[in-house]
Amino acid sequence: MKPEVESIRKHLKKKLSPSRYEHTLGVSYTCIALAMRYGCDLEQAEMAGLLHDCAKRYDDTAIIEKCDRLEIPLTEGERMAPPVVHAKLGAWMAEHKYHIYDPEILSAIACHTTGKPDMQMLDKILYVADYIEPRRRQIPKLPELRRLAFIDLDEALYQILDGTLSYLKQIGAPVDAMTEKAWQYYRALRENASAAEKRNSRNDECSKSDTDMSKNHMNDEIKEEYSQYAGCKGTDKTRRKGFGGKKRRRHPNH
Ligand SMILES: [Fe+2]
Ligand SMILES: [Fe+2]
Repeated sequence: MKPEVESIRKHLKKKLSPSRYEHTLGVSYTCIALAMRYGCDLEQAEMAGLLHDCAKRYDDTAIIEKCDRLEIPLTEGERMAPPVVHAKLGAWMAEHKYHIYDPEILSAIACHTTGKPDMQMLDKILYVADYIEPRRRQIPKLPELRRLAFIDLDEALYQILDGTLSYLKQIGAPVDAMTEKAWQYYRALRENASAAEKRNSRNDECSKSDTDMSKNHMNDEIKEEYSQYAGCKGTDKTRRKGFGGKKRRRHPNH
């Protein structure tokens, strides 16, 4: 194990509750497994999983107070739905306390509670891993979602967003606007894909490429519409400093 991972694990074990720490390890290993499946960097995935809930050492009230003190901007929707806010503080802590500067890792941590339109691969891996990790209590459709995650990550992501939104609405809990936007985005992509599939099945081989072009064009239009939410604002190449290193840059989402 890399010394950096070992020292962060030791620190998290001291700061998080035993069940939260177990969940953290489960998410981290699931991120690695999904990264193997989808051809991503395994160390990057492991680190995103390891730090995704680092702010959960505090309760929701303390998390919001800390965000205000650190001038981490929160939307009104986030203030109305406090359980989502640990993602933003977690990204800040990953950078400033654990000295992780990789913008893809910070982006994945920052959006792991709500999702967002046009998520990058690591964003999706962490979002899905958080839901399907082995220690997750049994929830409806979990076995199917676990299988689906290794077959079609976007569909698994959509199903989780859809289930989460339905559940929150059913219990009358506030829904952060970003979750709604993420759901709308992935629903639109899914509908385009399904419309293109239907056209494909009607057309002969000669027209298949036209159908694919039209599907890609439609998806590009959706991505353009949601481009303000996509990606991470950090522009530097991926780089990571060891736990205990020096603070270098501000959080990319600030
Ligand atoms: Fe979380
Ligand atoms: Fe989590």
